[in-house]
Amino acid sequence: MIILGIETSCDETAAAVVENGQKILANVISSSESFHKRFGGIIPEKAAREQIKYIIPVINQALKEMAVTSKNQRGLIDAIAVTAGPGLIGSLLVGVETAKTLSFLFQKPLIPVNHLMGHIYANFLELTNLPQLPAICLVVSGGHTDLLLMNKNHTFKHLGGTRDDAAGECFDKCARMLGLGYPGGPVIQKAAFKFHSGKQAIINCKVKLPRPMMYEKNFDFSFSGLKTAVLTLVRSKKKFSHLSIQQFNNLLAFEIQEAISDVLTYKTLKAVEKFQVKSVLIGGGVAANQRLRKKLQAKCQKLPIKLFVPPAKLCTDNAAVTAATAFFQNQPVNWRYLKPNPSLYFLKSLSTNLKPKYSA
Ligand code: KG4
Ligand code: ZN
Repeated sequence: MIILGIETSCDETAAAVVENGQKILANVISSSESFHKRFGGIIPEKAAREQIKYIIPVINQALKEMAVTSKNQRGLIDAIAVTAGPGLIGSLLVGVETAKTLSFLFQKPLIPVNHLMGHIYANFLELTNLPQLPAICLVVSGGHTDLLLMNKNHTFKHLGGTRDDAAGECFDKCARMLGLGYPGGPVIQKAAFKFHSGKQAIINCKVKLPRPMMYEKNFDFSFSGLKTAVLTLVRSKKKFSHLSIQQFNNLLAFEIQEAISDVLTYKTLKAVEKFQVKSVLIGGGVAANQRLRKKLQAKCQKLPIKLFVPPAKLCTDNAAVTAATAFFQNQPVNWRYLKPNPSLYFLKSLSTNLKPKYSA
């Protein structure tokens, strides 16, 4: 089954073609990130306007790439998948309305996809041995931090999530406080690496940030306090007058990354212990973080479970994961009734089956 995936939940305009939920035949992404860098965050209206400009060229490019990488010269597609939520409403509308139009014009099934599930199914792409289930899934993106149990039949149970800021949001806001730029995760990772690899690591100058909710007996997270603790340190910069601004930033970046990755690793492993799973799957932009990957790998290799980590380019937003999710969760809807849902979360109340609900 060949699925054309469309993803426009945030600032990316993406289209991809995936065969049987696993083989990527084309994966095209256009991002307005460089524009948004100037403002330290996303301006939703601007993101949506860029998506209107690029959606058709991006889909065309994906179909062209597919013709080159596969023998499918006529560009035959079996179904169209689209991210229906969560995300920015203006951005989601661009993808959803485009997908609806294509579904109507070409009489192809239309499959709505929960973007958060997309981050999980990134782990099913380009593999010969698929992850064994049940699995614990950690979804860590700019807007979400969720721990889930994925059952053998691909249903999900929500175990916990952030009570306030998401891990990615914490990276982004801390980076902004340090004046490091946007998006925060990659710049904090880079600054932390400079601290760790340079002489600075051995200078006796440490800061300790809290590990919020780490030892609480639940699977919830909270990152807003961490952000406040960073702000307090930034305001007390004078105490670190022996350090240059760059050294100070690197030191803080290191500790921010340690705090976030410690909490995420600890709670994920607690869930593994409790549910006796066979695999751990991570996804979302923050899953690209090298330190987090290393810590999870170190813990998982001592256990009879396998850690799945998508390549960095499949952690951040893309449409290949949308097409893969549509294949595994295949729930087509009539195009007339599909509306984007900006707050389509992994809700606690939807404890057994998180397939998105659409009124038909
Ligand atoms: O999944 P994603 O691309 O978009 C959302 O669905 O939100 O995630 C974006 C988030 C941003 O907060 C960004 O700072 C973070 O992922 N991120 C990282 C890294 N790369 C992206 N966080 C930590 N380390 C990274 N290397
Ligand atoms: Zn995402």
